[in-house]
Amino acid sequence: MKEVDETFEENMNDKSDLTDLQAEVQALYDAGVPLFTKAAIRDALRQLEEVWSSGSAAEIQIAGVDGKVVSLGTAPGDWERPDELEDWRVHPHLEYHSLVSLLHGDFNPEHARLPIRVCTTCWRGRQDGNPLTSELMMHEFDRLRAEWEASQPCTELRRLIQDARVPRVDKIIAFAFASMNRTRTGELYRRSALQHCLILTLRDLLTTSTLNSNEVRCFAQDPDYGDTDKTTLTSHGVCVLEDPRGFLEVDDNSAILSANPDVPIRDIVTDLARPAMMIWNDPGDGPDHGLNEDEEGNQCGTTWTMADPNSPRLRALLDEHYVRIAFPGGIYSDELGNLAIFVRKA
Ligand SMILES: C[S@@+](CC[C@H](N)C(=O)[O-])C[C@H]1O[C@@H](n2cnc3c(N)ncnc32)[C@H](O)[C@@H]1O
Repeated sequence: MKEVDETFEENMNDKSDLTDLQAEVQALYDAGVPLFTKAAIRDALRQLEEVWSSGSAAEIQIAGVDGKVVSLGTAPGDWERPDELEDWRVHPHLEYHSLVSLLHGDFNPEHARLPIRVCTTCWRGRQDGNPLTSELMMHEFDRLRAEWEASQPCTELRRLIQDARVPRVDKIIAFAFASMNRTRTGELYRRSALQHCLILTLRDLLTTSTLNSNEVRCFAQDPDYGDTDKTTLTSHGVCVLEDPRGFLEVDDNSAILSANPDVPIRDIVTDLARPAMMIWNDPGDGPDHGLNEDEEGNQCGTTWTMADPNSPRLRALLDEHYVRIAFPGGIYSDELGNLAIFVRKA
């Protein structure tokens, strides 16, 4: 790592290098080069699986937006778990960088053209040992679901989807709905649970709609899930997928759900397919980035604001191919987030 940092310092002494790199990435993006492809995700997963199963370090080859392959190491020393994360699994995994993150993130010239990278220092997956057991979670989840199903926002959502003439959907894929066991106090994490209720409402609606008499399979991907989440979701017929397998399921006959993710779910999906519908954060009139200005007037972002920023490609997709329907969050607006429904035009 030290070597890279020194190279970084040397290279970035000249600010024009940074500007050139940014211009190159922006030009490739403007020319329509995808940041994310299933082939690249599948290939990275294949290599990571070898690391996961062997438990030993390897070099993972990832192609950048310029097509050149960069080798990323997964040194086992990096996998050591800090004491404060003792109940987490440490697991090398993929990182996804939006355009804004590529242009304005923590700049390392060797990685500047890589929308997909490998992270070896982060935790993944909640271990058991939380006071909220699977039995209790299932019970509390069913209670909240009954509350949600009887609510005015859910009734309104049902009406809107029924009227929307959603094209055929074979699967629902939910991203980043978080662990329902997040409170650490033994209570159900309502926010996350409510978002998961959406999956079941949508499945119910789409299996009975006139355009859609087929079975609708349900998947959920969030590295935060622990065993209690998996048991609860499986009991409702929702299959939990390890990152990045959810992305490999995305296609034109899917409905994509996501709320306030830590990763650029909307950018990834935009590059992978033109799904039948999405319920996800509404780009609205917000800016095409999550940047602020520092004291010197330079644009800079934080990991949070750059996680799933609006992007020109996302906007173009939604404007050209989708009808936007306001999400009827009502009393649940805070817990569900700033969502909107997008249904693909006929
Ligand atoms: C800010 S939290 C939002 C959680 C929840 N949706 C909410 O509104 O409170 C971001 C979520 O993104 C999830 N996340 C991170 N990487 C992900 C990935 N590769 N695929 C799916 N979810 C991911 C995190 O685990 C976390 O649960």
